[in-house]
Amino acid sequence: MADDPCSFTKELFLLKAPKKSPLVLRMIVLVFVMVCGVYICTICLKQISTRTNTGLFTVQTIEKPCPEPNVEQSEAPYLHYPNPTSYSRAECACNPVRYFAILSMQRSGSGWFETLLNNHTNISSNGEIFSVKVRRSNMSTIGETLDRIYNLDWLSSASKNECTAAVGLKWMLNQGVMQHHEEIVEYFKQRGVSAIFLFRRNLLRRMISVLANSYDRDAKPLNGTHKSHVHSPKEAEILAKYKPIINATLLIANLRQVEETTTKALEYFKSTRHILIYYEDVLKNRTKLIDVQDFLKVPRKDLKSRQVKIHKGPLSNQIENWGDIQKTLKGTPYESFLHADYRRR
Ligand SMILES: *[C@@H]1O[C@H](CO)[C@@H](O)[C@H](O)[C@H]1NC(C)=O
Ligand SMILES: *[C@@H]1O[C@H](CO)[C@@H](O)[C@H](O)[C@H]1NC(C)=O
Ligand SMILES: *[C@@H]1O[C@H](CO)[C@@H](O)[C@H](O)[C@H]1NC(C)=O
Ligand SMILES: *[C@@H]1O[C@H](CO)[C@@H](O)[C@H](O)[C@H]1NC(C)=O
Ligand SMILES: *[C@@H]1O[C@H](CO)[C@@H](O)[C@H](O)[C@H]1NC(C)=O
Ligand SMILES: *[C@@H]1O[C@H](CO)[C@@H](O)[C@H](O)[C@H]1NC(C)=O
Repeated sequence: MADDPCSFTKELFLLKAPKKSPLVLRMIVLVFVMVCGVYICTICLKQISTRTNTGLFTVQTIEKPCPEPNVEQSEAPYLHYPNPTSYSRAECACNPVRYFAILSMQRSGSGWFETLLNNHTNISSNGEIFSVKVRRSNMSTIGETLDRIYNLDWLSSASKNECTAAVGLKWMLNQGVMQHHEEIVEYFKQRGVSAIFLFRRNLLRRMISVLANSYDRDAKPLNGTHKSHVHSPKEAEILAKYKPIINATLLIANLRQVEETTTKALEYFKSTRHILIYYEDVLKNRTKLIDVQDFLKVPRKDLKSRQVKIHKGPLSNQIENWGDIQKTLKGTPYESFLHADYRRR
């Protein structure tokens, strides 16, 4: 009998069958177990799905091997200990890293600003990473790209041999920032990313730079190469020779549109940790860079860039149809763009 488990269970069943109440009890237990099983399964599924949702936003971090940094509680969310997959941080492993993003618009001095930041031993700003369209296709690709940068796995010329204390990128508002602003703000808050807004006060000068840069892209006066930024006064002089004609009919609408975009961006990101910097202020007063270094909590250094400014001097020398533009802007809120070299706040 013992060799035949089938008959054994059958017998057991038959034996117990007449007694009704144990069977009912057993059924109750069985149903209970099934209900529990289904419940546990749904919980698991829920957890799995939430994990894939936030999966974008997780970067491997070392499980607390480093001593607690001596900072205020409010600072803790901004300190990270990335654990890159492509190399070992070695003696820098316990150097906390802060994440940042320079949010700007084309021809607002962000290239120059970034070279200044990268002159700091402990700052690594990886350039205009989202100028490549596929990286900004949707929030998944954006999240994956940011994860790689912030995990110090994005290797570029900005990568440092020193201990990085702040890592980030330069990101133009029209490269998915405005389009996916809700998810990006959420990412910044979850991951403790700080935003550095870099805007230009004189939007007319910015417009000239945009037009000249797009002219240069086609004409390439510098020995047939297109250069958005130059490193010698001679190159700057050649590029500055071109005087664009600005369409006076569209001018006010264009200026207003740029202004609205910057206002909107500041509104979207107001709940994130951020700082607002104007290009003209940095140009006039290099100590503005101290504010940025303090914001990133890196040791203060004197920062240098080899870049040379292309457009200098009065605007009247830089616009072909200066008379029209003057007439158009007179009496509008943008009149100050004409006079002052740099509009004051
Ligand atoms: C910063 O710029 C100075 C002057 O160009 C240069 O000597 C120095 O090596 C730069 N430092 C870094 C970290 O790039
Ligand atoms: C996001 O974009 C990438 C690249 O274009 C694509 O492969 C992927 O399927 C997209 N994901 C979603 C969720 O749309
Ligand atoms: C900056 O880098 C130097 C050299 O690697 C390192 O000794 C120092 O601790 C770093 N500073 C910060 C704030 O991480
Ligand atoms: C153009 O090329 C010539 C010869 O290679 C060189 O001497 C000159 O400096 C270059 N000019 C510029 C603006 O790069
Ligand atoms: C300015 O732009 C408008 C609208 O695109 C166009 O109709 C007009 O011809 C342009 N004016 C000049 C001088 O290019
Ligand atoms: C330069 O900027 C610093 C920091 O923002 C400020 O304290 C200082 O007054 C400014 N100096 C001038 C001359 O504007």
